[in-house]
Amino acid sequence: MKRNQIMQTVNVDGAVNSQRVAVRPAEPARVLWVNQAGFLAERQRAERLLEGSAVLEVVAAHELSSELSRKPAGELAAILIAVSDPSVAQTLAREIRARDELLRTRLFIATPLDLEEQCESLDIERCLVLADCALDTGVELLKMGLAAYRALGKNSLLPRNYLDASYNEIYDWFENTRWDWTDIDLKEIRRDLLTSAEVAILKESAVIEFGTLPGAHNFLREWSDEYSFSSWALSWGAEEARHSLVQSRYLRSIGIEVQAKHAMYKREPYPIGHNRAATLMMNIVSEARAAEYYLGLAGTVKEPVLQNIWSLLGRDEARHCRAFAFFCKELCDHDPTNIAPALEMAYVFCADRSNGVKHPAGYFYPHSTSTRGLRGTEAYLQETTTSSTDRADRRVFEVVRQITRDSSVRSVKDIRRKLRELAQ
Ligand SMILES: [Fe+2]
Ligand SMILES: [Fe+2]
Repeated sequence: MKRNQIMQTVNVDGAVNSQRVAVRPAEPARVLWVNQAGFLAERQRAERLLEGSAVLEVVAAHELSSELSRKPAGELAAILIAVSDPSVAQTLAREIRARDELLRTRLFIATPLDLEEQCESLDIERCLVLADCALDTGVELLKMGLAAYRALGKNSLLPRNYLDASYNEIYDWFENTRWDWTDIDLKEIRRDLLTSAEVAILKESAVIEFGTLPGAHNFLREWSDEYSFSSWALSWGAEEARHSLVQSRYLRSIGIEVQAKHAMYKREPYPIGHNRAATLMMNIVSEARAAEYYLGLAGTVKEPVLQNIWSLLGRDEARHCRAFAFFCKELCDHDPTNIAPALEMAYVFCADRSNGVKHPAGYFYPHSTSTRGLRGTEAYLQETTTSSTDRADRRVFEVVRQITRDSSVRSVKDIRRKLRELAQ
């Protein structure tokens, strides 16, 4: 296993990416004007109006079918069908929509009749009356189509209907298992039951949670071509923000302040990941560890309010782990080439504890105290209970078994073997 290579992947930044990936010049976007009777007499003016935003192609209605079959779809962003016969327009629209490779291509129709009622079923952006579709209007439509086409992006997981995304599937379970602030009464704190070690860990836990804000920021950046995981990430981020807040409020109740600098030390987003399944796996490790740490702490602390808080947060982190695993599996099922990067990430964080536990929460912010704090928590728990990290990593192996569909993966050694198998 070439670890340096893997770490480079974890730590990837723009410069590294440009060395590793050959960048091909982007294919220019094309827009197509379909007309029946020399409608587009002023082609040069239309090209000027497009201002170089796309390559304009003009084709007669009766040649459209052969033109679409002859040329690969490439970056065909928008088609405007401006014809005098409405039935021809409808036939052409149906033919375009029957071609899978043109699903993203935005479609506009201008005929003497208003065909607005058919827009939805044929996924047409707008139907205009031909008399209203002067050259300037037609070019504006194509520009609008170009913007819409680019907004759609190329994520092959995007469903046709909004509610067919995984966010809709996971939402109810996630919402219905959230704890309520009324479950916590800070006036009930028994200060006399707290040890100084527990207070130190509590403070560090509040600080560690600040790393989730740039995490949410990064999810929206890395997943900018979809809405499903991004929407869930907003709920996740909102829950994580409560983790810092509730622990900081507890600390204030016992006369201890958490300085704002700790939040700012981790505010800057870290480099965007190299592979989304790997990014999710990093978070699976992080959540599994956090769940076990909080549950382990809840099992040792005597003060009842803090015990309640830590057990609620432990449950939260376990829910987060489960949800990240759900999205990771979705990516791996959709494209099995995602499995190896996910496994490499699991290996990076689970393999070597010779210098202490490697935890994603402290990884990107060496100027913060979190790595030291996490190792302190782990050491504290090891003195009091069995290894929380071992229990957490067993959860990670469980996720690895799910995404690989291989029930034999039960250790770091098995992950290495699986990676060798996948490389063959
Ligand atoms: Fe958290
Ligand atoms: Fe979490």
